[in-house]
Amino acid sequence: MTDPKPSGRIDVPFFRPSIGEEEIREVVDCLRSGWLTTGSRTRQFETEFAAAVGAEHAVAVNSCTAALHLAVEALGLGPGQAVLVPTMTFAATAEVVRYQGAVPLLVDCDPVTLNMDLDDADRRIADLKAGRTPLDRGLAVVGVMPVHVGGLMIDMEAVGALAARHGLWVVEDAAHALPAAFRPGPGGPWRRCGENTAAVTCFSFYANKTITTGEGGMAVTASPELEARMRQMSLHGLSRDAWDRYAGNGSWDYRIVAPGYKYNLTDIAAALGIHQLRRAEQLRRERESLARVYLEALGDLESVELPPAPADRVHAWHLFPIRLRLDRVPISRNALVAALRGRGIGCSVHWRPLHLHPYYEETFGWRPAALPVATSVWETLVSLPLFPGMSAEEQQAVVGAVRELCNRRACRG
Ligand SMILES: Cc1ncc(COP(=O)(O)O)c(C=O)c1O
Repeated sequence: MTDPKPSGRIDVPFFRPSIGEEEIREVVDCLRSGWLTTGSRTRQFETEFAAAVGAEHAVAVNSCTAALHLAVEALGLGPGQAVLVPTMTFAATAEVVRYQGAVPLLVDCDPVTLNMDLDDADRRIADLKAGRTPLDRGLAVVGVMPVHVGGLMIDMEAVGALAARHGLWVVEDAAHALPAAFRPGPGGPWRRCGENTAAVTCFSFYANKTITTGEGGMAVTASPELEARMRQMSLHGLSRDAWDRYAGNGSWDYRIVAPGYKYNLTDIAAALGIHQLRRAEQLRRERESLARVYLEALGDLESVELPPAPADRVHAWHLFPIRLRLDRVPISRNALVAALRGRGIGCSVHWRPLHLHPYYEETFGWRPAALPVATSVWETLVSLPLFPGMSAEEQQAVVGAVRELCNRRACRG
């Protein structure tokens, strides 16, 4: 039996998508049009998305995972090769490297931003060559896949410098980073995420992402060759003219030129995406305002560290990850997550690092001590609810619960 909800309690989901009337109308129009799969709405979404992030080309697919896979495939990733991947990421970033028979060379994270530690990336390459990692020292490191954790961009110019030092390509996992931007130096020009920041930049439109199509993703690139390969491989490796059949005038006599995948986005999903994209900056601003309320309302808690909000970033605020000071907080991370959930407050942890998952431990021999920052910081992480449309009462319920649970001694004293 579950306890009845205490009267007056406000339940707060971890995320609630913000779907407007325009999205609903466009989906209905799409359904009535008789054209459900990839077609004119997907093409429109691609064109408008490329313009919004400042990219030359955009390929719409059915997930960010598919976009990441197409990117590394188009770059020719294969067996005998390794790619620098942050251990502090979701499954997708590393699994696409495995799809290609290559190996993720895991990199530790910055303890505050949680983004990849680029000095550690340099060290990992030296360690690999010197046989100081559990991996085969003969692997050739060919690429790097930075992740903008929670929507706070890593300095992509510094990533570019790392890549240039070691002759690597860059595929950017921007699943959390729409819209987002960074400024490489004081007074320097702002660069949007996807504005030629990598060989390929991959976005997610999963249900809880900053804009959503239910499931969906986008790969953007400045390279017409990469665009052509990704597009082709996203639809069974069919010759170019097969794509035109979506416009109704393509050839029935297509050619299979490679063993591709089935990654294309539907027009139903694109119908949502077109309108979500138009609202993207407004939705970001709402998330930013909510983040500022948390920063203000929790800023004096000694037992908790709050996420940074640097002035040289346009932060997408996909996540609001707090870090517990385990020596000061009267509750463990797991107990806090359970207690918040017990009070009807959705929260999550981003993430158990890859090297602490059985597949990566058992297949490659990664041990907790090999990536010490991620090993210790993940034990402190809790992501609080943050979504456009969150009411002041909902946010106050979260603030009140976090303050009470993390500050018990102070409350009692
Ligand atoms: C960092 C990161 N990369 C990739 C993905 C995969 O996105 P999708 O679900 O669109 O495949 C996620 C999903 O949560 C993610 O958090």
